[in-house]
Amino acid sequence: ADALKIGIAGLGTVGASLARILVERRETLAATCGRPIEIVAVSARDRTRDRGVDLSRVAWFDDAVALAENPQIDVFVELMGGAGDPAYAAVKTALSRGVHVVTANKALLAAHGVELATIAEERGCLLNYEAAVAGGIPVIKALRESLTGNTISRIYGIMNGTCNYILTKMEKEGLGFAECLREAQRLGYAEADPAFDIEGNDTAHKLSILTTLAFGNRIAADDIYLEGISNISIDDIRAAADLGYRIKLLGVAQRTDTGIEQRVHPTMVPIESEIAQVDGVTNAVAIEADILGELLMVGPGAGGNATASAVLGDIADIAKSRPGAQMVPVLGRPAATLEPYKRAQ
Ligand code: HSE
Repeated sequence: ADALKIGIAGLGTVGASLARILVERRETLAATCGRPIEIVAVSARDRTRDRGVDLSRVAWFDDAVALAENPQIDVFVELMGGAGDPAYAAVKTALSRGVHVVTANKALLAAHGVELATIAEERGCLLNYEAAVAGGIPVIKALRESLTGNTISRIYGIMNGTCNYILTKMEKEGLGFAECLREAQRLGYAEADPAFDIEGNDTAHKLSILTTLAFGNRIAADDIYLEGISNISIDDIRAAADLGYRIKLLGVAQRTDTGIEQRVHPTMVPIESEIAQVDGVTNAVAIEADILGELLMVGPGAGGNATASAVLGDIADIAKSRPGAQMVPVLGRPAATLEPYKRAQ
């Protein structure tokens, strides 16, 4: 069968992991998907960096929009990050041309997800974004597919690996905030601007996407009560422990009688609770669903391989799809039918 030709925009931690895995597992992926997956083009600022993979036979672009316009590619994989351009322009360009998109960009979806989903659905192409929320945990698939038919009352969890890594390391090793943050950056967990992690914005972006999938409303990332962890000290963590609690940065969204409530803030959770046991870069997402009951998904939330695993799954889904087949709506239901957002009073 014809190879699925992909273009990757952004070869940072996640892009480099993805490129390595696609090359190393070429044969098994081709067998699983029924066709080979081939990287035909990339765009990245730095062409010289050693990424542990031979990309010498691949077309290089300086500009992500030019890559998205390339007629060679079947799938545009956006791993640059950032809510605005060039990511926004490039993804919009690809979708408008009817090219499938896979992205890990939660900031982009929080800001423009409904518009992008609308274009994808009009053009009959896929916009897959499993890696955008909780790294390698398949929470988008769970909400968008597996839980179809359930009414969801609440969704909450630890959705930023950097913050959970910092809070865990402060507690267990007694290290200061700044040192723990530097280590999270070194390990490739943090955002390009780590203020997005520690001030809670990244959790808010992810929560806004889950809220839409859970409750069927238009994305409302600006309507989230937001408080990060930059003011949490070791003394706070110890005081909480003395009372039988751990401090976790949680994102919470719930349906109330008056509308939807969304918030992100440090939360004291009882030490014996399951969520309190979630340590390091691990994320956890709890979903309260009426048919199923309560689901808790726990797993790696950030880092090159964990994130690349989710991106790879999204690419494989496209490789396995057939033209004209029924497609999963991008945001859980057709974008045109999303409800207006109504904030809880
Ligand atoms: N900076 C993010 C985190 C990356 O630490 O969770 C994964 O989205």
